[in-house]
Amino acid sequence: MATSLGFLSLLVLVTSTGCEDAASAQENVSPITNVTLDPRKKMLAWACRRTVSQQECTIDTPPDYSAWQTPQVSADGTYFCVFPNAVLHRGANLTVNATANGDAFKHELAFENAGPEGSAAVGFSCLIYSLHFMNCSWEPGPAAPADVRYRLFTWTDPREDEVECPYYVVDADGVRVGCHFDKLAPPNQTDYFFLVNGTSEQTAVQFVDFKPLQAMRMEKYGPPANITIQYNGSCHLIQWDNPETRFEIASHMLCYELEIQSEGSSARRDRVSQRGDDRNAYVVPGPAAGAQSTFRARVKHKYGRPGTWSTWSPTLRFGVPEQGFGGPGVVQASLAVSFAALLTTALMLLCARFSLRRKLFPPVPQVKTELGGSLMPGLQVSWDKDSLPPGWEESEDILTVEDTPSGARGQAEPERPASAVDDPENTGPERRACEEKEVPA
Ligand SMILES: *[C@@H]1O[C@H](CO)[C@@H](O)[C@H](O)[C@H]1NC(C)=O
Ligand SMILES: *[C@@H]1O[C@H](CO)[C@@H](O)[C@H](O)[C@H]1NC(C)=O
Ligand SMILES: *[C@@H]1O[C@H](CO)[C@@H](O)[C@H](O)[C@H]1NC(C)=O
Ligand SMILES: *[C@@H]1O[C@H](CO)[C@@H](O)[C@H](O)[C@H]1NC(C)=O
Ligand SMILES: *[C@@H]1O[C@H](CO)[C@@H](O)[C@H](O)[C@H]1NC(C)=O
Ligand SMILES: *[C@@H]1O[C@H](CO)[C@@H](O)[C@H](O)[C@H]1NC(C)=O
Ligand SMILES: *[C@@H]1O[C@H](CO)[C@@H](O)[C@H](O)[C@H]1NC(C)=O
Ligand SMILES: *[C@@H]1O[C@H](CO)[C@@H](O)[C@H](O)[C@H]1NC(C)=O
Repeated sequence: MATSLGFLSLLVLVTSTGCEDAASAQENVSPITNVTLDPRKKMLAWACRRTVSQQECTIDTPPDYSAWQTPQVSADGTYFCVFPNAVLHRGANLTVNATANGDAFKHELAFENAGPEGSAAVGFSCLIYSLHFMNCSWEPGPAAPADVRYRLFTWTDPREDEVECPYYVVDADGVRVGCHFDKLAPPNQTDYFFLVNGTSEQTAVQFVDFKPLQAMRMEKYGPPANITIQYNGSCHLIQWDNPETRFEIASHMLCYELEIQSEGSSARRDRVSQRGDDRNAYVVPGPAAGAQSTFRARVKHKYGRPGTWSTWSPTLRFGVPEQGFGGPGVVQASLAVSFAALLTTALMLLCARFSLRRKLFPPVPQVKTELGGSLMPGLQVSWDKDSLPPGWEESEDILTVEDTPSGARGQAEPERPASAVDDPENTGPERRACEEKEVPA
């Protein structure tokens, strides 16, 4: 099979610094021999030709990653260290040191990414979507030969074999620039590893590899589901369901962006960030919305990159029923508009403070009480799952909610996929609640 052949050819034998030659002659010869690095598995392996009392292996990769391990022994008596989080495409220095009969020995191995600088694929990113699929894309490196033929490999467990891309996407020049996966690893696997290498008739092509990507952050969800808007005489209550997700995640790891746009004389658009909840709700003071307002929302994982925002939900219209639009109503309206603006500001401040607190005190992952609904004390109303909030019990005023034809407003914006590289686009205070960076473990 192509895969197992590929696997064999992967075992790059790296020059072992003359140990063998000296072996018979000298007593103090290094016990470490046959040092190899498998750059796909990120596994350093070697053999020892006599008993060693202590061993240690280290890896250094630019710009600043280094790690060390106590080696493991495999069934055939060889030793190995695996560095799954190391990124090797910028090269690496690996060392094995050992103590034998009281003498210390050290074996160094310099690994280089063969091929001209700039030949590797660039701008790699992947997106999981519609629960079952994944798309990855990249661009040819600036110095890639014209006949470059890239190959993408992925795996979720460093000990297991890699899988090659099943369906390549080619650009106008016939160069492979993307991949579609229709069969993903089981959703219990949450780290995805990727490697893009390539071949050319003219030259070697450098590969590019990445730290494991967290699949949960790569998922693009469907838009918020089952949105309803109800009016109780003074307020509109907007509710929706969390989207279906491929990976099990706590509600509070979802981040919503709500857009409320009023039409008419005091037209304005508010965007509000809100964390997910078991029962999502947002209250709009009734008259603030003006005669006609629209609502739409989108969602992504708290740590998802901007490209993972769902498409917008269909735009829903809502408004205050006919009666009660007098002078006072207008005053009330503008008051309520500034009130809404104030709340938005308060929310932003709360979110900013929250993200600072996060930086200072990184949370224990998956602790559900982390947020405790503290984000929106003024706006969000809590109540039992299966009942309406206070003030909503006898409401008969459930407004008809109509989908506007999916024209200009309901349309999805062009989306960029989640990026493996850092995305500079991620700024703006109102987004901070949703897009703060996780403190690396
Ligand atoms: C690319 O990587 C795969 C998987 O590790 C390997 O089988 C193949 O030999 C590599 N190709 C080149 C040209 O290095
Ligand atoms: C060196 O390692 C390679 C690959 O692991 C193996 O095939 C070979 O037999 C080893 N040679 C010695 C001398 O251990
Ligand atoms: C390996 O080298 C490191 C530093 O170079 C040293 O601290 C460590 O004790 C050595 N380990 C052995 C087993 O020699
Ligand atoms: C490996 O170590 C040498 C000497 O310390 C250094 O010059 C080189 O840059 C290192 N290479 C990598 C890839 O870290
Ligand atoms: C994923 O890739 C397939 C095949 O190229 C394409 O038809 C589809 O629109 C892509 N989907 C997304 C969400 O990018
Ligand atoms: C994930 O599920 C697969 C099959 O359902 C199982 O073989 C594998 O051991 C599971 N992995 C983890 C990390 O739970
Ligand atoms: C939408 O509501 C229906 C009916 O209550 C429910 O079956 C479905 O699961 C909901 N959708 C989502 C995504 O929660
Ligand atoms: C409508 O709901 C809001 C928020 O739950 C509540 O403050 C208000 O008193 C309710 N109004 C009426 C007329 O019930």
